[in-house]
Amino acid sequence: MAKTKLAILISGRGSNMQALIEACSIPDFPAEIALVLSNRPDAGGLDRAKAAGLPTAVVDHTGYETREAFEAVMSDLIEASGADIVCLAGFMRLLTADFVNDWRDRLINIHPSLLPSFPGLHTHERALEAGVKLHGCTVHFVRAEMDNGPIIGQAAVPVLSGDTPELLAQRVLVAEHQLYPACVKLIASGKARVSRDIVRTESKVDGLLINPA
Ligand code: GAR
Repeated sequence: MAKTKLAILISGRGSNMQALIEACSIPDFPAEIALVLSNRPDAGGLDRAKAAGLPTAVVDHTGYETREAFEAVMSDLIEASGADIVCLAGFMRLLTADFVNDWRDRLINIHPSLLPSFPGLHTHERALEAGVKLHGCTVHFVRAEMDNGPIIGQAAVPVLSGDTPELLAQRVLVAEHQLYPACVKLIASGKARVSRDIVRTESKVDGLLINPA
């Protein structure tokens, strides 16, 4: 069966992109990477993508007067790559409702909290302030409202006494690197679908929920 083609959008170091690159290098993984696109010319992830021999593109948002103009260039590049699914991996630009709707149910994001708790920024600090005992990350289909949309999978990690935002972020990041490829695999293999704005999975599916050890 033909592999699902991914376009990965990044803004920074690209460690989640790297996790997807590694997953896609496994012969029977059902997806392959068609494009890595960054909105920042200095994103560290671009070097990682080039080192892996992947096609890369930069669309520097500072060069466009409007979000729409910036997104139109991104859309053309994504379309030209033949991507079936767009994966946001630390892509730190808000997307317009038009872009999100154009890619409805084909645009996924990883967010460093157990949504719907802690949408937005500084999730680890806020989790510590709230005193939650479980924290984690979520992979979800993107909707126009920020950090919202049908949840594909979640990974939980414990919050430990003595945690700082940095320590907690490191623990969550390890879980992110497991969760994102697992969720892409589910979608690319057709084992999970959106129905009435909820992701439904086949009964015997592993890897959707990753618990603390
Ligand atoms: C990750 O922790 C990801 O969950 C987060 O940015 C980091 C990117 O790291 N994304 C968001 O906060 C999106 N709202 P990476 O560049 O090493 O993958």
